[in-house]
Amino acid sequence: MKRVVILISGGGSNMVALCRSMTGDHPARPVLVVSNDPDAGGLAKAREMGIATAVVDSRPFRGDRAAFEAELLKPIEAAQPDILCLAGFMRILTPDFVNRFSGRMLNIHPSLLPKYPGLHTHARALDAGDAEAGCTVHEVTPVLDDGPILGQARVPVRAGDTEETLAARVLEQEHRLYPAVLRRFADGDRRPVAL
Ligand code: GRF
Repeated sequence: MKRVVILISGGGSNMVALCRSMTGDHPARPVLVVSNDPDAGGLAKAREMGIATAVVDSRPFRGDRAAFEAELLKPIEAAQPDILCLAGFMRILTPDFVNRFSGRMLNIHPSLLPKYPGLHTHARALDAGDAEAGCTVHEVTPVLDDGPILGQARVPVRAGDTEETLAARVLEQEHRLYPAVLRRFADGDRRPVAL
């Protein structure tokens, strides 16, 4: 049974979708949810699902990424993860941290990578007049939002869309895509999922 640690910073809707998917004959189980923000709404959701949680507040560390990550590693390593899932985790991780989990750390990004790495992806798609948008699950590598793509889901951009309406349409697909990719990845299958 693969042990999955999920990192969040906010509401954790992707974390909830992942945890709900890991049941029955699924080869993985969530063992810990970690947040860098003590006020993250996802912490209460994880506890309601009976999943262990940890908080490593990033604010006291200011810009000292290495010091923050040294603390962050403690509960993660203690959970003995096989797979790490970043799910709405809003901190940039150093190459040292990323390389420690090379080949077994996933992230979901709300754009059709390689388009729009970084932030404000929906605003950028709307500004560009794109006909479609979507989300990507990829392996995390030291370059931000750049690793091997493990799955993508596409949505139409509709006339009158705002950042909020597009984000909501994409988020629905994130909740389908991430569990599908995790299931395949936990089975050792790296073929991309196309939804
Ligand atoms: C969402 O914008 C999602 O697109 C991105 O992180 C944000 C929060 O997601 N992956 P969640 O509800 O905390 O999973």
